Amino acid sequence: MKVLKTVAEIQAFAKQMKDEGKTIGLVPTMGALHEGHLTLMRRARQENDVVIVSDFVNPVQFGPNEDYDKYPRVFDADCEKMETVPVDAVFHPEPSEMYPEGYCTYVNVEGDLTHKLCGAQRPGHFRGVATVVTKLMNLSRADHAYFGQKDAQQVSVVRRFVKDLNINVEIVMVPICREESGLARSSRNRYMSDTEKAAAVILSKSLRKAKDAFEAGEKDVETLKKITSDEIKTEPLATIDYVDAYTYPALEPIKTVTEPVLLAIAVKIGKTRLIDNVILGGDAK
Ligand code: PAF
Repeated sequence: MKVLKTVAEIQAFAKQMKDEGKTIGLVPTMGALHEGHLTLMRRARQENDVVIVSDFVNPVQFGPNEDYDKYPRVFDADCEKMETVPVDAVFHPEPSEMYPEGYCTYVNVEGDLTHKLCGAQRPGHFRGVATVVTKLMNLSRADHAYFGQKDAQQVSVVRRFVKDLNINVEIVMVPICREESGLARSSRNRYMSDTEKAAAVILSKSLRKAKDAFEAGEKDVETLKKITSDEIKTEPLATIDYVDAYTYPALEPIKTVTEPVLLAIAVKIGKTRLIDNVILGGDAK
């Protein structure tokens, strides 16, 4: 596996692969890799000649009071995991390589899409994501880019700017990867104690309860949201940030589930903010 640290290195690698007529799959990550990331990489491995992973904690998508400094950075362990896929190249730049002195260009997806759910709680977050993902797509010359459904709103935002900016990349969303307990895999799970991890199972449990009710015939969105939040409230360590539901992927308001609906939650367990979701009435595409 090649380790590419600079813009010049990834550009040269991508050019060589393209000159050889190869297709490229990009898996953007912030490192601290877990089984969920590896699922994305394996899918990319199946569907492309070459797999490039980016392993970069992107400063511009973190708010001033968020966990940028404490976000886990474990590059050597990440490399061992990537070798098992295997991945052809990892792009692991310094922040100053991506945002050098004088940097001043950002990709901003305007309107409602970025102002609800996590966008309401984390102003500027999606501007940071859209900016770095655009740069990574340009640098890697990817044909396909892979994202997890856990960040379903992120996938909607990426699809929006890829369409609006005529970027020639196909976006692939991969279903949520869960631990046996049901807890969605996340790099932030490692912030939690064992007691907190046990409590965090309430996220997937509450969504499962809403999904069961939906499958038993409940189509009213407010009722489905209430079933979810009532269940979360049974866990003393949990504090709800939001329980919300919108059409997917457009994220429009909806009263009755007549088309695919994203039921999404953000919950704090102790100090750790976790997200999870389920798509009702349709498949993740
Ligand atoms: O989902 C993530 O880990 C990040 O938002 C991404 C897509 C790698 C951009 O930094």
